[in-house]
Amino acid sequence: MKKAVILGSGLSIREGVTPLESIPYVDIPSWPVGSVKGHKGVLDKYEDLWVLRGRAHLYEGFTWEQACFPTKYLAENGIEELIITNAAGGINSDFEIGDLMQITGYLNFMKPDNSCKLSRLTQEVTKIKTEAIASDDLYSGVYVGVHGPNYETHAEIALFKEMGAHAVGMSTIPELETANEYGLKVKAVSVITNVYGKTLDLGHEGVVEAAKKASQKLVKLLDLE
Ligand code: HPA
Repeated sequence: MKKAVILGSGLSIREGVTPLESIPYVDIPSWPVGSVKGHKGVLDKYEDLWVLRGRAHLYEGFTWEQACFPTKYLAENGIEELIITNAAGGINSDFEIGDLMQITGYLNFMKPDNSCKLSRLTQEVTKIKTEAIASDDLYSGVYVGVHGPNYETHAEIALFKEMGAHAVGMSTIPELETANEYGLKVKAVSVITNVYGKTLDLGHEGVVEAAKKASQKLVKLLDLE
């Protein structure tokens, strides 16, 4: 099964391992090229895995369709399994920085005509091998996608919590929905880079730093060595 992984802010795998081919996003027609720090903007093709180093966000001014394009491209180029990763803020106060959360459902606050949609993702498609890491390092929960770029107010976090969300971020949902449309096997994992009510606001630099540290755990969990 041909597999691809989308890496979120600060996440890195196979650093220093030479891919068979490395294509800058700018060289792929229609590909939305984001400019967020900690995102390299290349598609690295390894024999067993394609690695997307960075993504474009709605808050950078990209449209929903543009944010969906890379997943569409993968599906139309033979990818059958997609692993989506992101950096997210922890809403659930059990979280610690660096924890991983598999996404088993989501609330879509990214798209005006589609707000508050609860996903139809099933436990089956998002199930992840949990033996790879200590079980207390892996949570499962509901991701709420917001437009950004601003982080949330405490009142917004309280509301999201009330609605059943466990983590909040600014990506992933376009990719999840596109992957579902194309019938890809999909797994999505958030790396918790800050926890509301618990850690100080880290800012983007802090998020990237926390994500870097979690990368190793993610690699192990998802068998991406
Ligand atoms: N909110 C939204 N997106 C994020 C956060 C957050 O707290 N942390 C990392 N990405």
